[in-house]
Amino acid sequence: MGKIISIINQKGGVGKTTSAINIASSLAVAERQTLLIDFDPQGNASSGLGITPEQIGDKTIYHALVGQCSIEETLKETELPGLWVAPADQNLSGAEVELVGAIAREQKLKKLLEPLKDRFHYILIDCPPSLGLLTINALTASDSYLVPMQCEYFSLEGLSQLVSTAGLIQGALNPKLELEGILLTMFDARNNLAHQVADEVKKHFGEKLFRSVVPRNVKLSEAPSHGKPVLLYDIESKGARAYLEVTKEIIERNMPKNKAQPAIGESPSASI
Ligand SMILES: Nc1ncnc2c1ncn2[C@@H]1O[C@H](COP(=O)(O)OP(=O)(O)O)[C@@H](O)[C@H]1O
Ligand SMILES: [Mg+2]
Repeated sequence: MGKIISIINQKGGVGKTTSAINIASSLAVAERQTLLIDFDPQGNASSGLGITPEQIGDKTIYHALVGQCSIEETLKETELPGLWVAPADQNLSGAEVELVGAIAREQKLKKLLEPLKDRFHYILIDCPPSLGLLTINALTASDSYLVPMQCEYFSLEGLSQLVSTAGLIQGALNPKLELEGILLTMFDARNNLAHQVADEVKKHFGEKLFRSVVPRNVKLSEAPSHGKPVLLYDIESKGARAYLEVTKEIIERNMPKNKAQPAIGESPSASI
């Protein structure tokens, strides 16, 4: 059964899409069949993986949500074998409004993803920067949520708001929802505040804070303009290495106790 993880933070520009693309591609390199759902009308996860508007046409996650096509019809395989995308474009911004009157409006994405859980080991959802109906759909469909955050003072307030929203959804709509982890992004080790914020998060969330941090790395910001995950753009970069490490932690946390699956570094395609 595939695991569904929402990549969420109500703040924009904190590294959600960068994390979604690069964790999804690292999972695929570790031989996990992976689907990335682009759930942001900005469509950055789609374009960042080289999917063009011509390829997408009128088969997006929006069209699947409103019943104009099946989710299978939206899926596009990327340049990286084993990594698939359900793309989005600006049409998705209409869904927030159009779904308001719909029956079980919070469960739409959950229903769409159910038949895909047997086909993929992991399904990641790149959420928009808000806690609106799209994000509620994502959290309702998910087994867990992963929060990328920048080490800034206000990030802590945002984090507690987000965790309490997730708690509400867990109580009302999705009892199994868990925190997958908190990932520090664009980390600057020379900045004292960054260390203070990291310590504070560690104090409150303990093991839920990923041991690996993602440094600020120009290759991570350049890769999407080439339509590639950083692994295919510059595998030696600090950014690529960081996301491989984070993904290794995710795989370890989710390793079934009785079933040995190759971890990153153990499979031939991952020995890079
Ligand atoms: N670790 C990083 N180092 C350098 N630039 C980064 C890093 N993470 C993200 N970025 C850049 O920061 C901007 C915002 O990141 P993005 O992943 O799009 O955030 P979000 O999806 O949360 O809005 C993008 O231009 C992205 O390329
Ligand atoms: Mg984004």
